[in-house]
Amino acid sequence: MHKIMVLNAKGGCGKTTIATTLACYFASHGYNTALMDYDPQQSSNRWLNIRSEEQPRIKAIDAVRQQSGVTRSYQLYSGNETEIVIIDTPAGVTGGKLVDLYHKADSILIPVMPSIIDLQAMQIFLQELGRLFRQGRDKKHVGVIANRVRMRGKSYHAIESLMQEAGLPLVAVLRDTQNYSLAMEAGLGVCELRPGVSAKDRRHWEPILDWLFQVLPNKRRALELTSPPRGSWPSAVA
Ligand SMILES: Nc1ncnc2c1ncn2[C@@H]1O[C@H](COP(=O)(O)OP(=O)(O)OP(=O)(O)O)[C@@H](O)[C@H]1O
Ligand SMILES: [Mg+2]
Repeated sequence: MHKIMVLNAKGGCGKTTIATTLACYFASHGYNTALMDYDPQQSSNRWLNIRSEEQPRIKAIDAVRQQSGVTRSYQLYSGNETEIVIIDTPAGVTGGKLVDLYHKADSILIPVMPSIIDLQAMQIFLQELGRLFRQGRDKKHVGVIANRVRMRGKSYHAIESLMQEAGLPLVAVLRDTQNYSLAMEAGLGVCELRPGVSAKDRRHWEPILDWLFQVLPNKRRALELTSPPRGSWPSAVA
């Protein structure tokens, strides 16, 4: 089992959007996939609730509300058959909470928006993360996604320099497009929108999947991004 966490202390940078899209990618290509939501807002779980049963199945794990009659570890157990667990996290994660979450992941993706406010908030978060990375015996696979990029201007180049300083790879650049909110509202991932609409976005996701596949155990096959995933594209959307 491989656990992929989407993490950034900054709110609204695209954690849930990226977590749900990743879950769709893996589920659509036959991976037994779970989506674990650590955010009290439960955005990922709410998205799963509106996802049609006709779409490739993603198992929901609520890591916030304690269920009665089960232990915490049972509640968080995704089952032996689960191959990929995508973990969505809340904003404002620092200190002890960050340490706890960090140790739960195998790979960590950090979405960053090209805005000066986001980058300033990122610096402290990156320092904390960098300390954990250097201290940890098991080196995590940590990478950054520049999200909602409209043009590669000053703020975008500031992301590049900050990542260079932090020694973190900038894995991919995702454009700002309403496709993400359209997909989200329909319980889908951007890769599940009609190919004509989402071709560009699916190309932007290729480096993310390549990067993840570098460390996936028992990788069965590369995800074929140009062919339709299992399941159908609902014509109602986009
Ligand atoms: N690449 C994108 N293009 C356009 N809109 C986007 C993109 N990524 C995310 N969004 C939008 O930005 C908003 C915030 O995204 P999202 O909820 O994924 O962020 P978050 O980091 O999970 O927020 P929070 O910290 O509150 O949990 C949503 O309305 C989402 O549709
Ligand atoms: Mg969220």
